[in-house]
Amino acid sequence: MMRSAIVVGASKGIGAELVTLLAQNPSIQVLALARNIQSENKWEAHKNVQVHNFDLQSENAKVELQNILSTVSSIDYVINNAGYLVNKPFLELSQEEIVDSYTVNVLGVMSALQVIIPKMLPNGGHIVNISSMGAFQGTVKFAGLSTYSSSKAALTNLTEMLAEEFKDTKLKFNCLCLGAVQTEMLAKAFPGYLAPVTASEMAEYIVDFTLNQSKWMNGKIIPVSLSTP
Ligand SMILES: NC(=O)c1ccc[n+]([C@@H]2O[C@H](COP(=O)([O-])OP(=O)(O)OC[C@H]3O[C@@H](n4cnc5c(N)ncnc54)[C@H](OP(=O)(O)O)[C@@H]3O)[C@@H](O)[C@H]2O)c1
Repeated sequence: MMRSAIVVGASKGIGAELVTLLAQNPSIQVLALARNIQSENKWEAHKNVQVHNFDLQSENAKVELQNILSTVSSIDYVINNAGYLVNKPFLELSQEEIVDSYTVNVLGVMSALQVIIPKMLPNGGHIVNISSMGAFQGTVKFAGLSTYSSSKAALTNLTEMLAEEFKDTKLKFNCLCLGAVQTEMLAKAFPGYLAPVTASEMAEYIVDFTLNQSKWMNGKIIPVSLSTP
């Protein structure tokens, strides 16, 4: 049976690798969303991939997403992978940087899920939120990431809240708190640092988790990291 998956934040980094892996499964219809994705469609050869420009920061994000999903009858998997990272001392953060962090990392996800969840309720499905180790309680914290990590922590908590609210449905919500992955986002925030994991390696884990683990967990916050402790 054909299933469908939405990847939000799909144009580069981990998100692009998620789409590439999901596209290899012809029984999955993939909707790949990001602000700049249509101009450079990497998956033109894959009939099961649709790309749509979509901005979580748009004032009309909900209407725009409704339009994108108007022809989609059901959704089985959602990976909320978009992220905004600013590495700056707390006292130097502009209001815009704080608002943008919260909009991309949590408020936009809430708006998107208000559109997506009603379509998933009849058949159920798995919603996976991509957060960060910095948002996981008790981990080593990095100065400069106050607005990034605190907004990701809100996403982490949102996962638990939605799992609770929808526990009597067939929906499952889980959150993966990623450690460092070698992407454009990381290179920009921490120039010179080399992560132990590539975007395609991390995508392999996330796709497997999304497709196979909702049977075993709901409302869980899972650290996915090689760092110790
Ligand atoms: N890399 C790491 O070390 C690391 C560690 C922990 C957690 N994470 C998390 O993993 C996820 C992927 O990170 P990455 O390193 O692959 O980042 P990336 O290379 O910067 O990719 C981020 C993706 O999000 C999309 N995006 C950004 N703003 C958006 C918006 N307003 N609306 C829609 N899409 C938007 C970007 O596409 P457009 O620019 O085309 O919109 C891009 O496809 C993020 O949530 C990040 O916080 C990463």
